[in-house]
Amino acid sequence: MAFTFFFRDLHTLEHVVNQVVPLVAGRSNVRVWNAGCAMGMETYTLAILFAEKMGYFAFKNLKIDATDIDGSDLFAEIINSGTYPNEDLQRIPQGYFEKYFKPAEKPGHSRISELIRSRVTFRKHDLLTMTAVGDGYSLIVCKNVLLHFTPAERVQVMRVFYRSLAPQGLFAVEQTQVMPDEMAQFFERVVPDAQLFRKIEVAS
Ligand SMILES: C[S@@+](CC[C@H](N)C(=O)[O-])C[C@H]1O[C@@H](n2cnc3c(N)ncnc32)[C@H](O)[C@@H]1O
Repeated sequence: MAFTFFFRDLHTLEHVVNQVVPLVAGRSNVRVWNAGCAMGMETYTLAILFAEKMGYFAFKNLKIDATDIDGSDLFAEIINSGTYPNEDLQRIPQGYFEKYFKPAEKPGHSRISELIRSRVTFRKHDLLTMTAVGDGYSLIVCKNVLLHFTPAERVQVMRVFYRSLAPQGLFAVEQTQVMPDEMAQFFERVVPDAQLFRKIEVAS
Protein backbone atom coordinates (compact mmCIF):
# COMPACT_ATOMS: atom_id res chain seq x y z
CA MET A 1 0.00 0.00 0.00
CA ALA A 2 1.35 3.47 -0.90
CA PHE A 3 2.90 5.49 1.89
CA THR A 4 0.95 8.68 2.56
CA PHE A 5 -0.96 10.39 5.35
CA PHE A 6 -3.39 13.22 6.02
CA PHE A 7 -1.86 16.71 6.38
CA ARG A 8 1.49 15.54 4.97
CA ASP A 9 3.74 18.50 4.06
CA LEU A 10 1.13 20.98 5.22
CA HIS A 11 3.66 23.75 4.61
CA THR A 12 3.55 23.24 0.82
CA LEU A 13 -0.19 22.62 0.69
CA GLU A 14 -0.89 25.86 2.57
CA HIS A 15 1.24 27.77 0.04
CA VAL A 16 -0.67 26.01 -2.74
CA VAL A 17 -4.06 27.02 -1.39
CA ASN A 18 -2.97 30.58 -0.58
CA GLN A 19 -1.77 31.03 -4.18
CA VAL A 20 -4.64 29.29 -5.95
CA VAL A 21 -7.60 30.86 -4.16
CA PRO A 22 -6.96 34.46 -5.34
CA LEU A 23 -6.07 33.15 -8.82
CA VAL A 24 -9.47 31.48 -9.29
CA ALA A 25 -11.65 34.02 -7.45
CA GLY A 26 -14.97 34.52 -9.26
CA ARG A 27 -14.60 31.51 -11.55
CA SER A 28 -17.49 29.08 -11.82
CA ASN A 29 -15.35 26.09 -12.78
CA VAL A 30 -12.06 25.48 -10.99
CA ARG A 31 -10.16 22.33 -11.87
CA VAL A 32 -7.41 20.65 -9.84
CA TRP A 33 -5.48 17.48 -10.67
CA ASN A 34 -3.93 15.49 -7.82
CA ALA A 35 -1.70 13.02 -9.68
CA GLY A 36 -0.44 10.01 -7.70
CA CYS A 37 -3.02 10.57 -4.99
CA ALA A 38 -2.67 7.13 -3.34
CA MET A 39 -5.63 6.46 -1.01
CA GLY A 40 -6.83 10.04 -1.12
CA MET A 41 -5.31 11.44 2.07
CA GLU A 42 -3.48 14.17 0.15
CA THR A 43 -6.55 14.88 -1.99
CA TYR A 44 -8.87 15.24 0.98
CA THR A 45 -6.33 17.34 2.89
CA LEU A 46 -6.22 19.71 -0.09
CA ALA A 47 -10.00 19.73 -0.32
CA ILE A 48 -10.37 20.59 3.38
CA LEU A 49 -7.85 23.43 3.07
CA PHE A 50 -9.67 24.76 0.00
CA ALA A 51 -13.05 24.53 1.76
CA GLU A 52 -11.68 26.54 4.66
CA LYS A 53 -10.07 29.21 2.47
CA MET A 54 -12.68 29.51 -0.31
CA GLY A 55 -15.90 29.47 1.64
CA TYR A 56 -18.98 27.36 0.91
CA PHE A 57 -20.19 28.73 -2.44
CA ALA A 58 -16.82 29.10 -4.16
CA PHE A 59 -15.82 25.65 -2.92
CA LYS A 60 -18.80 24.16 -4.77
CA ASN A 61 -17.13 25.31 -8.03
CA LEU A 62 -14.00 23.26 -7.31
CA LYS A 63 -13.45 19.85 -8.90
CA ILE A 64 -10.46 17.71 -8.00
CA ASP A 65 -9.43 14.89 -10.33
CA ALA A 66 -7.56 12.41 -8.12
CA THR A 67 -5.58 9.87 -10.14
CA ASP A 68 -3.24 7.01 -9.40
CA ILE A 69 -1.93 3.92 -11.15
CA ASP A 70 -3.43 2.07 -8.17
CA GLY A 71 -1.62 -1.24 -8.32
CA SER A 72 -3.77 -2.58 -5.47
CA ASP A 73 -7.05 -1.76 -7.21
CA LEU A 74 -8.43 -0.51 -3.89
CA PHE A 75 -8.11 3.25 -4.14
CA ALA A 76 -11.36 3.88 -6.02
CA GLU A 77 -13.42 2.26 -3.29
CA ILE A 78 -11.52 3.99 -0.46
CA ILE A 79 -11.65 7.45 -2.06
CA ASN A 80 -15.24 7.19 -3.24
CA SER A 81 -16.42 6.14 0.20
CA GLY A 82 -14.16 8.68 1.97
CA THR A 83 -13.97 6.27 4.90
CA TYR A 84 -10.75 5.77 6.85
CA PRO A 85 -9.65 3.98 10.04
CA ASN A 86 -9.63 6.40 12.98
CA GLU A 87 -5.93 5.76 13.62
CA ASP A 88 -5.18 7.20 10.15
CA LEU A 89 -7.03 10.42 11.04
CA GLN A 90 -5.08 11.39 14.12
CA ARG A 91 -2.90 13.97 12.33
CA ILE A 92 -5.95 15.97 11.28
CA PRO A 93 -6.29 19.08 13.47
CA GLN A 94 -9.13 18.47 15.96
CA GLY A 95 -11.27 21.35 14.69
CA TYR A 96 -11.18 20.07 11.10
CA PHE A 97 -11.80 16.50 12.22
CA GLU A 98 -14.92 17.53 14.14
CA LYS A 99 -16.13 19.71 11.28
CA TYR A 100 -15.56 17.36 8.37
CA PHE A 101 -15.77 13.78 9.71
CA LYS A 102 -18.57 11.68 11.18
CA PRO A 103 -18.44 8.15 12.62
CA ALA A 104 -18.85 5.60 9.81
CA GLU A 105 -20.99 2.48 9.94
CA LYS A 106 -17.83 0.39 10.04
CA PRO A 107 -16.60 0.27 13.66
CA GLY A 108 -13.41 2.29 14.32
CA HIS A 109 -13.78 4.25 11.07
CA SER A 110 -14.88 7.79 10.18
CA ARG A 111 -16.30 9.19 6.98
CA ILE A 112 -15.48 12.53 5.42
CA SER A 113 -18.44 14.86 4.82
CA GLU A 114 -20.43 14.79 1.60
CA LEU A 115 -19.45 18.44 0.95
CA ILE A 116 -15.78 17.44 0.68
CA ARG A 117 -16.35 14.06 -0.95
CA SER A 118 -18.53 15.52 -3.67
CA ARG A 119 -15.68 17.66 -5.00
CA VAL A 120 -13.35 14.67 -5.62
CA THR A 121 -13.44 12.19 -8.52
CA PHE A 122 -11.00 9.29 -8.63
CA ARG A 123 -9.67 7.79 -11.86
CA LYS A 124 -7.13 5.08 -12.39
CA HIS A 125 -4.38 6.58 -14.56
CA ASP A 126 -0.76 5.77 -15.35
CA LEU A 127 1.35 8.92 -15.66
CA LEU A 128 3.88 7.02 -17.78
CA THR A 129 1.35 6.78 -20.60
CA MET A 130 2.30 10.47 -21.01
CA THR A 131 -1.36 11.38 -21.33
CA ALA A 132 -3.40 13.85 -19.33
CA VAL A 133 -6.74 13.23 -17.67
CA GLY A 134 -7.98 16.69 -18.57
CA ASP A 135 -6.95 20.26 -19.29
CA GLY A 136 -7.53 23.77 -18.05
CA TYR A 137 -6.25 22.92 -14.58
CA SER A 138 -5.59 25.81 -12.23
CA LEU A 139 -3.46 23.50 -10.11
CA ILE A 140 -1.64 20.20 -10.46
CA VAL A 141 -0.22 18.57 -7.34
CA CYS A 142 2.08 15.60 -7.92
CA LYS A 143 4.03 14.83 -4.77
CA ASN A 144 6.31 11.90 -3.94
CA VAL A 145 5.63 10.25 -7.30
CA LEU A 146 8.14 11.63 -9.82
CA LEU A 147 11.05 10.36 -7.74
CA HIS A 148 10.12 6.86 -8.91
CA PHE A 149 10.66 7.83 -12.57
CA THR A 150 13.83 8.27 -14.63
CA PRO A 151 15.01 11.86 -15.26
CA ALA A 152 13.77 11.61 -18.88
CA GLU A 153 10.35 10.35 -17.76
CA ARG A 154 10.10 13.19 -15.23
CA VAL A 155 10.66 15.74 -17.96
CA GLN A 156 8.07 14.09 -20.20
CA VAL A 157 5.48 13.95 -17.40
CA MET A 158 6.15 17.61 -16.56
CA ARG A 159 5.53 18.48 -20.23
CA VAL A 160 2.15 16.74 -19.94
CA PHE A 161 1.41 18.78 -16.81
CA TYR A 162 2.51 21.99 -18.53
CA ARG A 163 0.09 21.41 -21.42
CA SER A 164 -2.73 20.52 -19.01
CA LEU A 165 -2.42 23.70 -16.97
CA ALA A 166 -4.51 26.79 -17.63
CA PRO A 167 -2.59 30.05 -18.16
CA GLN A 168 -0.96 31.06 -14.85
CA GLY A 169 -1.74 27.57 -13.51
CA LEU A 170 0.29 26.25 -10.60
CA PHE A 171 2.24 23.03 -10.18
CA ALA A 172 3.44 21.59 -6.86
CA VAL A 173 5.90 18.80 -6.12
CA GLU A 174 7.58 17.62 -2.92
CA GLN A 175 10.37 19.64 -1.30
CA THR A 176 13.14 17.38 -2.56
CA GLN A 177 12.08 17.38 -6.21
CA VAL A 178 14.03 19.84 -8.34
CA MET A 179 12.80 21.43 -11.55
CA PRO A 180 14.81 19.84 -14.39
CA ASP A 181 16.86 22.26 -16.52
CA GLU A 182 14.83 21.21 -19.59
CA MET A 183 11.68 22.61 -17.92
CA ALA A 184 13.14 25.81 -16.47
CA GLN A 185 11.77 27.99 -19.29
CA PHE A 186 8.24 26.65 -18.72
CA PHE A 187 7.81 27.19 -14.97
CA GLU A 188 8.75 29.97 -12.56
CA ARG A 189 9.08 29.48 -8.85
CA VAL A 190 6.33 31.13 -6.80
CA VAL A 191 7.65 31.02 -3.21
CA PRO A 192 11.20 30.56 -1.93
CA ASP A 193 10.41 27.82 0.60
CA ALA A 194 8.30 25.32 -1.34
CA GLN A 195 8.47 23.57 -4.71
CA LEU A 196 5.52 25.48 -6.13
CA PHE A 197 5.71 26.75 -9.72
CA ARG A 198 3.65 28.90 -12.05
CA LYS A 199 3.22 28.12 -15.73
CA ILE A 200 5.00 30.56 -18.02
CA GLU A 201 3.40 31.06 -21.42
CA VAL A 202 5.99 30.12 -24.01
CA ALA A 203 5.40 30.92 -27.67
CA SER A 204 5.27 27.67 -29.65
C1 LIG B 1 4.28 7.70 -1.94
S1 LIG B 1 2.73 7.74 -2.75
C2 LIG B 1 2.43 9.51 -2.74
C3 LIG B 1 1.04 9.82 -2.31
C4 LIG B 1 0.78 11.31 -2.12
N1 LIG B 1 0.95 12.03 -3.37
C5 LIG B 1 1.64 11.88 -1.05
O1 LIG B 1 2.59 12.62 -1.38
O2 LIG B 1 1.42 11.59 0.13
C6 LIG B 1 3.19 7.48 -4.47
C7 LIG B 1 1.98 7.16 -5.33
O3 LIG B 1 2.39 7.23 -6.70
C8 LIG B 1 1.65 6.26 -7.41
N2 LIG B 1 2.31 5.99 -8.69
C9 LIG B 1 3.47 5.36 -8.89
N3 LIG B 1 3.72 5.26 -10.23
C10 LIG B 1 2.68 5.86 -10.86
C11 LIG B 1 2.36 6.08 -12.23
N4 LIG B 1 3.15 5.65 -13.21
N5 LIG B 1 1.21 6.74 -12.52
C12 LIG B 1 0.40 7.16 -11.53
N6 LIG B 1 0.65 6.99 -10.21
C13 LIG B 1 1.78 6.33 -9.88
C14 LIG B 1 1.65 5.07 -6.45
O4 LIG B 1 0.62 4.15 -6.78
C15 LIG B 1 1.45 5.76 -5.11
O5 LIG B 1 0.10 5.79 -4.75
